[in-house]
Amino acid sequence: MIYNFDEIIDRSNTDSLKYDFAEKRGMPEDLLPMWVADMDFRTPESVMEAMGSTVEHGIFGYSESREDYYLVLEKWFLTQFNWQIKPKWLVKTPGVVYAISQAIRAFTEEGDGVLIQEPVYYPFRQTIAINNRKVVVNQLAYNQGRYGIDYEDFEACILRGRVKLFILCSPHNPVGRVWTKEELVRMGDICIKHGVIIIADEIHSDFTFSGMTHYVFADLKSEYLEQTITCTAPSKTFNLAGLQISNIFIANQNYKKRFKEEMAKGGYSQLNIMGIIACKAAYQYGQEWLRQLKVYLEDNLEFVRNFVDTELEGVKLVEPEGTYLLWLDFSGYLHTHNLSDQELNRLIVHEGKLWLDDGNMFGLGGQGFQRINMACPRAVLSKGMEQLAEALKS
Ligand SMILES: Cc1ncc(COP(=O)(O)O)c(C=O)c1O
Repeated sequence: MIYNFDEIIDRSNTDSLKYDFAEKRGMPEDLLPMWVADMDFRTPESVMEAMGSTVEHGIFGYSESREDYYLVLEKWFLTQFNWQIKPKWLVKTPGVVYAISQAIRAFTEEGDGVLIQEPVYYPFRQTIAINNRKVVVNQLAYNQGRYGIDYEDFEACILRGRVKLFILCSPHNPVGRVWTKEELVRMGDICIKHGVIIIADEIHSDFTFSGMTHYVFADLKSEYLEQTITCTAPSKTFNLAGLQISNIFIANQNYKKRFKEEMAKGGYSQLNIMGIIACKAAYQYGQEWLRQLKVYLEDNLEFVRNFVDTELEGVKLVEPEGTYLLWLDFSGYLHTHNLSDQELNRLIVHEGKLWLDDGNMFGLGGQGFQRINMACPRAVLSKGMEQLAEALKS
């Protein structure tokens, strides 16, 4: 079967955060939304069929996953990443951010430092701050259009900030890096040396471009496995974010107990039945759909790369190795036109009629950047890029 990712599906009036809440979020109503990280593609047929059968059955009582669910996960992680999981490691949560928050509460005290690498997915900072922990930032190094890690600063941050926990974003949103084994090991060894627990947020791991390999951090060394909370989900991969299902792996049973106790304090136990059904069907039957989707996304990337080169003077695309989020560097444009980020935002929203994510939201190092979601039909992407070009010309 050939999947048609060119189909434009009207998402308005579907209670979609991306399409139906502009005004509530302080934006004009008529914007083309290319911000939040969900896709404008329908989930695979097999997922819809499985959910359809559940709807038809009509009884939505308390639900729990059975062994078949675990076996599907086991096969997925083995096939995709050569990672052998174990049943006793699994904790299911209604989302990765929820899991990160529980881990922060379970493994740190108020006032402790939690390390992140900005610019990074902004709920990391928010979740640390709202739990009254200290945000400690090892800012990513940006050299000649590529992001890397300043290891000296990484270690200094841990010492200086009384860091107990590190939130690794792998692959990295928004800069699009798929970390190499060497990079992960250098960070991992520093964490082990200082007794820092690692939350490895690997939610984007299914989106790596040709030639790139995602390494499961916890699988690189046995010491890492004992000290890592690995966060995964089918939500980005199969566009299921609204179903709130994620699979967290904690090999260290003492840590798992503490994590589950924290969840229990919040009164959470069983998942939504639709999440369980969808996750199982997606991982069981979705591999070919994902393969074709990745080909489509690489073509989208190629389209944007060419467009930026030829039409957006002063703008640079930070070449992504994974994820469907693009990180555009507007610093040249801002400099030439003597504009501030606010003025750029105004142009994008009011002249371009586009809704992107302002780089400043992602923390340190985000100034002068915008994040754009390319997981949409090519015609929509092309329209968005044209609107951006118009905005910049105006
Ligand atoms: C790095 C990262 N972690 C977590 C999430 C959200 O996960 P969830 O919806 O499961 O809380 C996102 C969504 O964009 C993300 O980019």
